[in-house]
Amino acid sequence: MTLLATPDAVARCRTDAPLPWLGGLRPSEFLRDYWQKKPLLVRNAFPALADLLEPRELLELAETEDVESRLIIEQGKTPYELREGPFHATTWRKLPATGWTALVQAVDHYLPPLADLLDHFAFVPEWRIDDVMVSYAVPGGNVGPHYDLYDVFLVQGPGQRRWQLGERCDENTPRSPHSQLKILSDMPVHFDETLSCGDFLYVPPHLAHHGVAVSECLTYSVGFRAPALTHLLEHLVDASLQEAEAATLFTDASRALPAAPLALTADDGIALHRQAMALLLSPERLLPALAPLLSEPKYGDYEPEGETVSRGDLRSFLAEGGDLLRDPASRWLWLEQSGTLWVNGQVMDLPASGSARQLTAMLQGRRLHNHALSQLDDAGLDWLCQLLGSGLLLAVDGLSPA
Ligand code: SIN
Ligand code: CO
Repeated sequence: MTLLATPDAVARCRTDAPLPWLGGLRPSEFLRDYWQKKPLLVRNAFPALADLLEPRELLELAETEDVESRLIIEQGKTPYELREGPFHATTWRKLPATGWTALVQAVDHYLPPLADLLDHFAFVPEWRIDDVMVSYAVPGGNVGPHYDLYDVFLVQGPGQRRWQLGERCDENTPRSPHSQLKILSDMPVHFDETLSCGDFLYVPPHLAHHGVAVSECLTYSVGFRAPALTHLLEHLVDASLQEAEAATLFTDASRALPAAPLALTADDGIALHRQAMALLLSPERLLPALAPLLSEPKYGDYEPEGETVSRGDLRSFLAEGGDLLRDPASRWLWLEQSGTLWVNGQVMDLPASGSARQLTAMLQGRRLHNHALSQLDDAGLDWLCQLLGSGLLLAVDGLSPA
């Protein structure tokens, strides 16, 4: 089963059709009116989330080495005590019946059906998407009023959570001095709604929010990322310097007579700046230098594990209705202008045959659907076998969650 009955979610996002999971908005309307601007509540957007994950499975992930997890206890040793995972299996039964939350990052890396949820957000490019964090809260559980630097879709799983929204905040907004977390000391409330399973609340960056579990609940946070501009500038300068001619010197053939011989004037500043900036790569030449950076996987120590699959094996798998998934822990990027595909910081050769175009079209979504895969030629299938071998693609039973 796919998580949601919309196998064409990616195509619908790309054609800008009104989307039921955006409350009937077209993606372009969402991007114009809400994205990075104001919150949006949609009821019953993803009802199938009810059956995706049991709290017990999430807590087991929080007990696993190398999985990033946290526990936040409102009335702990300090207010909003923060503990980092991995946790011992006995942790949970020693906790109070109310007021705590366990949070696990990148659950999409461990739970392939979440790829289907993420494909519903294909109206934002993948290089802007971070991960799906899932929290489990007992009644009263909350992480305190705070703001995040990134956009988030807070998608409610089983149970109910009351969300309050405040005002736009920045580093000057007063914080509580008593917690390790960046809890706001005051949050005037402008929105107050209780979300049930399948509802979501989109919260733009910097907007104060506070979610308290009304009942035992799971919340799926589809989190976004944005590169720090200082980091981008570093790459832009490094890449530009590699191409720049070191012997190019500052010129001032049209210099005016200086008012004072010691002066470094404002005009000098403009000319120095303009000539140095002219060495920076143009946007078109910059993109290939940024592709390795923007396609780096979330966790640098991640190593995909593949299995050897022959073309015959793949054909039988497809004949039984199987789908393929892009390995959720890998990061894929399509550089439109040069027609190159990047995975985990590396450029990938595509097959020389006509299937290259079909492959790049179907790889836009995280799930490669059986009906499209079945139309590929031998060269296309061989290419998929290589990717299955290196672990960048996973075979999932088309009829049940992996
Ligand atoms: C939560 O799931 O409890 C917190 C998510 C958030 O506020 O970003
Ligand atoms: Co938050």
